[in-house]
Amino acid sequence: MGPHPHCGECSAKKVEGTGVEMDNLQEAFRKIYEGEAKAVLRLRAFSKVARSEGLPQIARLFEAIAVSEEVHGTRAMKRLGLLGKTEENLKASFESERDIAESAYDNFLKQAYEKGDKTAQTIFSQSRDVEATHAALYKKAMAHFMQERETTYYICQVCGYVSDGTLPNTCPVCGAKKEQFEKV
Ligand code: FE2
Ligand code: FE2
Ligand code: FE2
Repeated sequence: MGPHPHCGECSAKKVEGTGVEMDNLQEAFRKIYEGEAKAVLRLRAFSKVARSEGLPQIARLFEAIAVSEEVHGTRAMKRLGLLGKTEENLKASFESERDIAESAYDNFLKQAYEKGDKTAQTIFSQSRDVEATHAALYKKAMAHFMQERETTYYICQVCGYVSDGTLPNTCPVCGAKKEQFEKV
């Protein structure tokens, strides 16, 4: 709900409850991009839970809203100049994976050791290892960009490990069985 142009009450810069400065549209689009991205993740997870509970129609509803939120998020992303050609997108993705693996997860892991939280240690260290493999997959794709290599990917539903071309018997990062892999 935006401010009403004819209403003195609404001429205040902040829209109640959003914390968004209306004269800074860039900031508004960034908040939309981040908020909608989170919603897509949350709704996809809710959809999987509903499916596993034998509620396919509810699962479909969550998935449908996720696709819709994706439209909102993508519009904001375009406006922010975050959607380039595939070659640029590969490069941006490679750089972000490398940074995440090298700094973010390492910091989280340090904190988990300080707190002595074993579960957090496992999650952070496995995620960090997987992020590093993401960077490698992007690098490979950049190298083969012109001759588009055809391959199937298998993703571990426990730790997120991505196997390129083969379904492993067990996940090399977390040890999950091959039944736990999703094919893309
Ligand atoms: Fe939305
Ligand atoms: Fe990643
Ligand atoms: Fe795994």
